[in-house]
This record gives sequence, structure tokens and C-alpha cells, in this order.
Amino acid sequence: MTEDFDMPYPQYRCPSCGRDLPLNEARVTVTCAAHRPEDDLAFIVRDAKPADRRAIEEICDRALGEIEVDALGKTWDILAGKNLVAEVNDGLAGLLSLAIDRGTAVVVLLSVYPEYQGLGLGTALLHSAVAWARQTGLPSIRVGVSNDDIPLLYFYQRQGFVIDDIAVGLLVDTTGSSVSGFSGIPSRDEIRLHRPVSND
Ligand SMILES: CC(C)(COP(=O)(O)OP(=O)(O)OC[C@H]1O[C@@H](n2cnc3c(N)ncnc32)[C@H](O)[C@@H]1OP(=O)(O)O)[C@@H](O)C(=O)NCCC(=O)NCCS
Repeated sequence: MTEDFDMPYPQYRCPSCGRDLPLNEARVTVTCAAHRPEDDLAFIVRDAKPADRRAIEEICDRALGEIEVDALGKTWDILAGKNLVAEVNDGLAGLLSLAIDRGTAVVVLLSVYPEYQGLGLGTALLHSAVAWARQTGLPSIRVGVSNDDIPLLYFYQRQGFVIDDIAVGLLVDTTGSSVSGFSGIPSRDEIRLHRPVSND
């Protein structure tokens, strides 16, 4: 992951022309369930190791611009969390960072580099996270998603998460103004979802 990008960093890749897209330039497309990328990408999901630190810092920088995440009413240090990585050809392609809060698991960050999206890495990372939560004895897993992030809201609900709360206006209160998010939609509210870990 050593390419140089103009800021802001791309979060998605256009399936039509292949251009990498910053969040506010991305748009959604509805397709048949059968029309999916056919790439059969070889990847593994594993626990992060100390040697992954710089790669983790880079994926956080590209996704968020920082290594700390505000979610579900707290500030989380990604490097202090339980980190699962998706690896392709010895390089980091995706990250899912977990924490434990009030007896449940929390997804603090999930990010897959644009060139590897739509190939099953996010799903595999989430399945590993759910398995970890179950093995750790945690009954459920929670996540907070910005209202504009339609692909993430789709992704989590497809994975069995249900909305249980919406912190209306929280993201405006936190930043002091409304930031332009996915597709230029103002990022305003934190949508909170959860799912049990027993039905994976
Ligand atoms: C959302 C995300 C985590 C999904 O990971 P992924 O590896 O692409 O997901 P998968 O390949 O496992 O696909 C899971 C589902 O998401 C869909 N999906 C994946 N990429 C998508 C995209 N760019 N647009 C719409 N849907 C997408 C897949 O079609 C699939 O749908 P299905 O359940 O109907 O089969 C990933 O696209 C991502 O990191 N996006 C950027 C997130 C972001 O905004 N980060 C910055 C703030 S944290």
C-alpha cells in the first residue's frame, strides 16, 4: 500500500472505470445479486502482530486521518484494541478493530482498501470478530455508523445487525459543524446497531 494519493484518501473504487474515489465522490449502484466481482482473491484473516503496527496506522490514517476513533460515546485507541487483519500477498488489505465495553464487543473500525472491496474480506473479518466475541464469552457485538455511510449500513444489516439507537446530531455536536460524508451527504447522526454472536 505505498501509492501516493491526493487528499482526501480514496475510500471506494468505481466498478465502471476503476477510479479510486474519496468518500464524497462515491455513489451507490443497485445490481442483481448475481452481478458480483468474479475475482477469486486469495487472502487470510488473522490476529494482528506487533510487526503490523505501521500498516495498521496507515489504514487508520487513510480511513479516518487518525488512530483514535470516537464511537458509541467513547474515544477508542485502535492500537490498544483487539485487531484482526486481512492479508493479501503479505500486505495488509483490511482491518477490523475491536474493543470490549460494558460486557459486549464493539467494532471500533472496519476498513478494506478500495482495490480489495467486494471480494469477501469485510465479511471474513466480521465473521472472525463474531467468533472472537463468542469465544471471549461476550453475548453481542455493537457498532456505530455515520448516517451517510450507506455501504457500511448495508453491510452491517446484511450481516444480521439491527439498529437499536440513533444519536441524532451527535457528529455535528462533536465536530462543531456538519462534515460532507459519503456521496456528499452531511455526516450528522451516529446510527447504533448490534447483533448477537450466537447465530453466525
Ligand atoms: C464496507 C466495507 C467494510 C465492506 O468490505 P468488503 O470487503 O468490500 O465487503 P465484502 O466483499 O465482504 O462484501 C459484503 C457486502 O458489501 C457489498 N459491498 C462491498 N463493497 C461495496 C461497495 N463499494 N458498495 C456497495 N456495496 C459494497 C458487497 O456487494 C456485499 O454485498 P452482499 O452482502 O449483498 O453480498 C468496505 O467496502 C469498506 O471498507 N468501505 C469503506 C468504509 C469507510 O467508509 N471507511 C471510512 C470510515 S471508517
